[in-house]
Amino acid sequence: MNRRDRLIARARQGYRLAFGSDGPEPQRFFAAPGRVNLIGEHVDYNDGLVLPCAIDRDTIVAIGPGNIDAPAIEVVAIDMGSARDRFGLDEPIVQGTSNWQNLVRGVAEMIHRRGHTLGPARLSIAGDVPIGAGLSSSASFAVGVALALTRFSGLDLNAKELALIAQGAENEFLGTACGIMDQMASAACTAQSALLIDCRTLEHMPIPVASDLALVIVDSGIRRELVETGFNERRAQCVAAARHYRVDALRDLTLEALKAGRAGLEPDLFARARHVVSEIERVEPAAVALAHGDTPALAQVMRASHVSLRDDYEVTTPEIDRLVDTIGAALGRGDAALGGVRMTGGGFGGCVVAVVHTSAADRVIEAVEAQYNADAETPATAAVYAMMGGACEVTPQGSG
Ligand code: GLA
Repeated sequence: MNRRDRLIARARQGYRLAFGSDGPEPQRFFAAPGRVNLIGEHVDYNDGLVLPCAIDRDTIVAIGPGNIDAPAIEVVAIDMGSARDRFGLDEPIVQGTSNWQNLVRGVAEMIHRRGHTLGPARLSIAGDVPIGAGLSSSASFAVGVALALTRFSGLDLNAKELALIAQGAENEFLGTACGIMDQMASAACTAQSALLIDCRTLEHMPIPVASDLALVIVDSGIRRELVETGFNERRAQCVAAARHYRVDALRDLTLEALKAGRAGLEPDLFARARHVVSEIERVEPAAVALAHGDTPALAQVMRASHVSLRDDYEVTTPEIDRLVDTIGAALGRGDAALGGVRMTGGGFGGCVVAVVHTSAADRVIEAVEAQYNADAETPATAAVYAMMGGACEVTPQGSG
């Protein structure tokens, strides 16, 4: 049984346990992946360009009919100790008592607000996107629920609508100020490709990744409390900088305009804006390098992104910087570089991403293991990941 089939079996089993093994079986199964961002960091909420790809870690939602006499959504979250929730569909949907409940309730509410009607349903949810690692477990959860609820009610929403529903749930029911990148990646990615997203228009196009490139993700193991505070503070700084320049979003500035209008702007706000503007300019060259398998070009642009996040945006940590330096050294520099490496996601810990020639994947993993065996404190782990398609219906193998 492969990874996804095991998850499906877990969701099915959880459904039987929660809703009665002699009751109806779940009728359909949906999968929504986590994501890693290759470049375009902290620019989605500045209307910029981003380049994430979906990874082979999913949230699986098993769904079946609910009680028509008392229309409600009933849910069991297998990974949350099989915790349960139930909310009526004939009454206003309000927040629940935990984050996962709020994601489900928020998604249902956002679907209603878009004018759609949901039918009663039972859901069992299981996943293997690591929580808190910066690989978008909550976006994958919300997109999976949005896809399952809408399809099961006979609605055929596109990826953009699903992503907006999932983001709305996070923004309004969870209270996180996230941008749209993670949800778009989970909803719209194509296998063996990254997704170039214009976060202003939500236009998106797959960038097929050269077949001799491999994706290596290194989880630093560091989980920081600061993530949310730091994130909200950066968002507010971007808004303040845009106001200084009298533009709608930092997307509207060039580096020249940024420098020319600098007078009167606090140095740290200038640095934040310089990260955003320069990072947006790096995305398209990175997409070209990715499509051509041009590892020296990737190395250069990913390095510049990391340095900018470290020095101008100040969202890296010493441990993450060290990991990036170690892996960068293992990949070589200049024209001989076998790939690029940078921090990925919101920052303040989390993951490092490397895109490398397939022949160099092992040396990245070995470099990480050597560093952390040497002084053993942080359990950083590195692995090769596949680039997956976005959220979809899945068919279980065998009878389960
Ligand atoms: C988090 C947010 C995204 C994005 C990234 C940084 O993952 O959820 O919207 O802002 O940080 O690029």
